Amino acid sequence: MENKPYMIMIASQKGGVGKTTIAINLAISLIYQKYSVLLVDGDIFTSSVSEQLGIISEGNGYKEAIEGDVKVEDTIFAYEPINLRIIPGSPSKEHFEPNPEKLERFYKQISKMEFDFIIVDNQPGLFNNMLARYFNEVAILTTADSTAAVSSSKLAAYCDKYKIKHRLIINRVGYSKFELNVEQVEKLFGDIAFAEIPEDMIISESLSKHKPAYLIDRNSAFSMAIDELSRAYTLRAGEPQPAFPFESDRNSRGGFFSRLMGWGSR
Ligand SMILES: Nc1ncnc2c1ncn2[C@@H]1O[C@H](COP(=O)(O)OP(=O)(O)OP(=O)(O)O)[C@@H](O)[C@H]1O
Ligand SMILES: [Mg+2]
Repeated sequence: MENKPYMIMIASQKGGVGKTTIAINLAISLIYQKYSVLLVDGDIFTSSVSEQLGIISEGNGYKEAIEGDVKVEDTIFAYEPINLRIIPGSPSKEHFEPNPEKLERFYKQISKMEFDFIIVDNQPGLFNNMLARYFNEVAILTTADSTAAVSSSKLAAYCDKYKIKHRLIINRVGYSKFELNVEQVEKLFGDIAFAEIPEDMIISESLSKHKPAYLIDRNSAFSMAIDELSRAYTLRAGEPQPAFPFESDRNSRGGFFSRLMGWGSR
C-alpha cells in the first residue's frame, strides 16, 4: 500500500460519542481485510482501550513511550485473538501532560513503523497541532444531536486551520426518535457525512464481555457499518494523496457518492 502507514486520528469535540468503540472495531475490521494495524490509545485523560478489550496492561504504555522511559517497540502489546498490535494507555494513575517535543518524537517514530494503518484513539477535544503533519486524516465523530454536531464543527475548523484532512462520522444513528436526521447534522456541522454507524445493542454486550463487537458478531448492523467504513478508508488510503486534499476530496467521498447513487438510507 502506498503512503505507509496511513494514520487516522479518531477525535471528537464532545466526550462519550463512541471514539474508543469505533477505533477498536475499525482496527479489527482492517485486520480482517489483511492489513497490518497499530492501535494507539492516545487518550491522555481516560484511556479505555484496554478496559474495552479486557487487556490487563500492567506494563508500559503510551505515557512511558512518549516520555522515552522505554523504547516505543517495547510498549506494543500483541492482542492475540487477532493480529492486532496496541500501544495501550499507561497503567499509571498520574495526570499526564505530554511534553510537546517528546510527543512529536513519539509520533514521528511510529509514523515510520511498518504498519499499513495506525489508528489513534484521542481524548475528547483538541490535540496538539504539531501532530497535524503525521496524520493523513482525522475522523471527527459526532452523535445525532445539536450539541455534538455544533461542537464538532469547531473541531473541523481547528483541523482546517492546521491543514489536516477531516471527515465526519455520525455514530449511534437510530438511538432516539428525537435525534436529528443526517441532513440536519450535516447542516450544523457544515459538511457531508463520510459514514453513519447505527445504534446497536451489541455494544452493551461488548462492554460487558470485554470483547469487541466485531469479534462477537461480524454480521451485526454495527459491524457491517464498520466494514463499510474500513473499506472506504482502504480505498482512500491506496490513492495517491492530492496536493490540496480538502478541495479535491469533496466530491469523491463515499457518503456523498452513495447519496448521489441513491444507495444511502435517506
Ligand atoms: N454505535 C453504538 N451503539 C450503541 N452504543 C454505543 C455505540 N457507540 C458507542 N456506544 C456507547 O457509548 C458510550 C461511549 O462510547 P465510547 O467510550 O466509545 O466513547 P468515547 O467517545 O471514546 O468516550 P470518551 O470521550 O470518554 O473517550 C459507551 O457506553 C458505548 O458503549
Ligand atoms: Mg474514549
